[in-house]
Amino acid sequence: MSDFVSDFWHYYVTGLVVLSVAFCIWILASNMTRRSPGPVSLHDHIWDETLQEYNHPLPRWWMYLFWLTLFFAIGYYFLYPGLGNLPGKIGWTSVGQYQEEMKKADEQFKPIYDKYLKQDLLAVAVDPEAQAMGQRLFLTYCAQCHGADARGAKGYPNLTDGDWLYGGDAATVKATIVGGRQGVMPALGGVLGAEGVKDVANYVRSLSGLAHDSLRAQRGKDAFMQNCVACHGPEGKGNQALGAPNLTDRVWLYGSSEATIVETVSKGRQNQMPVFKDLLGEPKIHLLAAYVIGLSKNQDKQ
Ligand code: HEC
Ligand code: HEC
Repeated sequence: MSDFVSDFWHYYVTGLVVLSVAFCIWILASNMTRRSPGPVSLHDHIWDETLQEYNHPLPRWWMYLFWLTLFFAIGYYFLYPGLGNLPGKIGWTSVGQYQEEMKKADEQFKPIYDKYLKQDLLAVAVDPEAQAMGQRLFLTYCAQCHGADARGAKGYPNLTDGDWLYGGDAATVKATIVGGRQGVMPALGGVLGAEGVKDVANYVRSLSGLAHDSLRAQRGKDAFMQNCVACHGPEGKGNQALGAPNLTDRVWLYGSSEATIVETVSKGRQNQMPVFKDLLGEPKIHLLAAYVIGLSKNQDKQ
């Protein structure tokens, strides 16, 4: 497989490599002077007023080291890829090496993964060895969004708090990781107007007992009943089938301040949990789902 966009680069790189090796050979060969018979002469240049040099040949052992590196390079280019597109005699590629290592790792870990895949998720979730494997997978594939401790960040849900956008039972968590999720809160600023959004934001704050302007909340309630209940439910408790959050609890994906709620409602939110089906495959997802469930179970116990 060639990474070059045109043949030109193949010839260019090959030409450069061959020329530089040839140049090194020429330089070395032309400096292999023998010690001249007769008295050692001085070079005719003088530095720093008095500094002069004898005209000795370079030490042999040192020259041979240079030759050695050159022969090594030639051998290397013969065996390994390096001359443009030429593959090298032994057919090594970095992709091949990677696949080889992956295959070895798969052979090594497959029995372990398979063992867990056959077990019920809830049983895997309390297995310490499986949790340790799940944690390593989580740190590799999930921590950049959900945090190393899985506590999330603004826009990225906390997975340890027992509060779920889509549901925390084994099958749902697994489905979330396999197929990803798309959270869409529509922009309703246009429908409600600036004042209407503020009213509804105050009503939302009242749902979880936060400080609010009760006059505004009163007006906001009507707007909520018209525009929000389809997804967040008549009591604002959310809908896990849509990933619409419960607005009556103290858990916030984006934030509970009036300004943040105003921003959420007027501009909407688009959020995406990536699909992991093809990247990870079922055995790893099984372990990850068990790890996530284990996290929130441990939290419950505290
Ligand atoms: C690119 C960022 C990103 C990565 C990587 C990521 N997630 Fe997510 N994840 C999200 C976002 C964003 C959401 C919320 C989606 C929404 O709001 O609808 C989410 C939601 C979830 C949920 C649903 C939470 C709930 O309350 O229902 C679970 C479970 C989850 N992620 C697990 C994982 C696991 C396990 C991994 C690693 C394999 C992972 N995520 C990797 C961004 C990410
Ligand atoms: C079409 C369904 C739908 C409608 C209609 C809808 N929402 Fe949402 N809302 C969602 C979804 C889905 C999310 C989660 C977005 C995400 O995952 O990023 C959300 C998120 C929110 C949040 C953020 C909560 C947090 O934890 O930070 C607030 C606040 C909110 N909605 C308020 C409202 C209000 C007020 C209305 C009516 C004016 C409304 N929503 C109408 C689906 C909807």
